[in-house]
Amino acid sequence: MVNLGKKVIYQIYPKSFYDSNNDGIGDIQGIIQKIDYIKKLNVDMIWFNPFFVSPQNDNGYDIANYYQIDPLFGTMADFDELVSKLKEINVGVMLDMVFNHCSTSNEWFQRALAGDEKYRKFFYLRKAKPDGSLPTNWQSKFGGPAWAKFGDTDYYYLHLYDPSQADLNWHNPEVRQEVYKVVNFWRAKGVRGFRFDVINVIGKADKLVDSTDPVQEKSLYTDTPIVHQYLKELNAASFGKDFDSITVGEMSSTTIKNSIKYSKPSEHELSMVFNFHHLKVDYKNGEKWSKMPFDFMKLKNLFADWQEKMDQGGGWNALFWNNHDQPMALNRFGDPGKYRIKSAEMLATAIHLMRGTPYIYMGEEIGMIDPDYSSINNYVDVESLNAFNKLKKQGMSDEGALAIVKAKSRDNSRTPMHWDSDQYAGFSKVKPWLMPRKQMQINVCKELTQGEIFNYYQKLIRIRKHEDLISDGHIKMFLKNDPQILAYERFNLDSTSKILVFTNFYGQEHKIQIPTAYVDQPYSILISNYQRVAGNLQPSLIFKPYEALAIKLKP
Ligand code: NOJ
Repeated sequence: MVNLGKKVIYQIYPKSFYDSNNDGIGDIQGIIQKIDYIKKLNVDMIWFNPFFVSPQNDNGYDIANYYQIDPLFGTMADFDELVSKLKEINVGVMLDMVFNHCSTSNEWFQRALAGDEKYRKFFYLRKAKPDGSLPTNWQSKFGGPAWAKFGDTDYYYLHLYDPSQADLNWHNPEVRQEVYKVVNFWRAKGVRGFRFDVINVIGKADKLVDSTDPVQEKSLYTDTPIVHQYLKELNAASFGKDFDSITVGEMSSTTIKNSIKYSKPSEHELSMVFNFHHLKVDYKNGEKWSKMPFDFMKLKNLFADWQEKMDQGGGWNALFWNNHDQPMALNRFGDPGKYRIKSAEMLATAIHLMRGTPYIYMGEEIGMIDPDYSSINNYVDVESLNAFNKLKKQGMSDEGALAIVKAKSRDNSRTPMHWDSDQYAGFSKVKPWLMPRKQMQINVCKELTQGEIFNYYQKLIRIRKHEDLISDGHIKMFLKNDPQILAYERFNLDSTSKILVFTNFYGQEHKIQIPTAYVDQPYSILISNYQRVAGNLQPSLIFKPYEALAIKLKP
């Protein structure tokens, strides 16, 4: 079995990585051309957001054909070349499997629309209520009702996301067989990594009923017991046959209890889970489309809960700050201005030395930040545009709504990778689908010649591979009430040494009292983003703005 603790995964959003054919959109050949860059980081696997055939209503999460590469990104030959070139440098491929829903352009949906009984059963089709209202009052996660008219019939189909993403009916064994077939097709091409999109919402109840409130509504289709059964079956029928597979489930609004079950090896479901609770600590009253400084104590408590309880229960976390759905963490939890470099390093340290498998989102390793576009016309994401219109309908001014979109839009992380300081950031020779910004200040070329963030990431990855306490150790938080410092200990019951990690989440200096058990112990420095020297632990320590420090105690 794979030692997940020694692995680091890099995420590439293909549309925005590198455009090799100058059509303004990133592509597979572009990724191949940048393999040397990826190699420098020494990651083990790359998760690619979907590049399958798709109308791109939700940037590829609306799959029309699971077996083909969208011509926008290249050909199957390009894909095979990518897999083999990455294999040469020992990097695996993780594909994004979107099975909660498929595109309404998918043949399955089209055949259902044409009246084919077999395929009608692939979807949730329901008639309106006797009073003519929609089958249930559920809301789509992208705004508006979760039901859309099924062609020219009396039926509606369920879509938890965009109307062009029809939910697949996993209760139908034929749907599950189709899912296994897709996974096995890609396994046969040498793919060993699979990320399963919103996989914990596949188990809707047989009888769909109205919800009483938005929170209760989620419970009607999230983390239902049958999801565990479906995952066990999927595991046995596909990736579970590969000793070296790595899988991750994207879990919407999940719980620790369920996540332990999803990821505990003896359950034979998945290798690990993404949860998003720590990325909701800047939501005002739980609402994403709002603005609020992050709540540090809440963040600390969430990390403590998820880290310690997953450890105790034998579950495994995916560790991440960023992905293609999130604004850049530097803007949310760091200081993208004065302390961009120090806060980027601090944030990286905070999660890379935790228990789990770290994911690095492209651009994070050079300290990329939100583009801060000046107009709503620069944004393209369906969710952001829906939110903008909704906020305006609620009476908010254009400026107010734009300020929220700027802070929360998924386009923040989807701007093209900055390779150099050119007009189009060295991403393309023509105007890209989404404009880069701030490439004069932040780009790969500059970072590799004069920067320090990339080197710092390399070092964190090296530490994970060499320090068993980081890859395999337990975790315990300390300084739990400190209002500025997140601190934890990595330990193993059969080892006398320990690793202590301290991260200052603020731009002010801060003094802490070292727990008495550690005082006077000799230590060496594992990593630090300021100048620190080894010594014996003093009763108190002062941390500089956004300082990160990891030390190894050797009693
Ligand atoms: C989660 C994906 O990460 C997101 O980009 C997508 O819009 C939804 N799932 C729906 O597939």
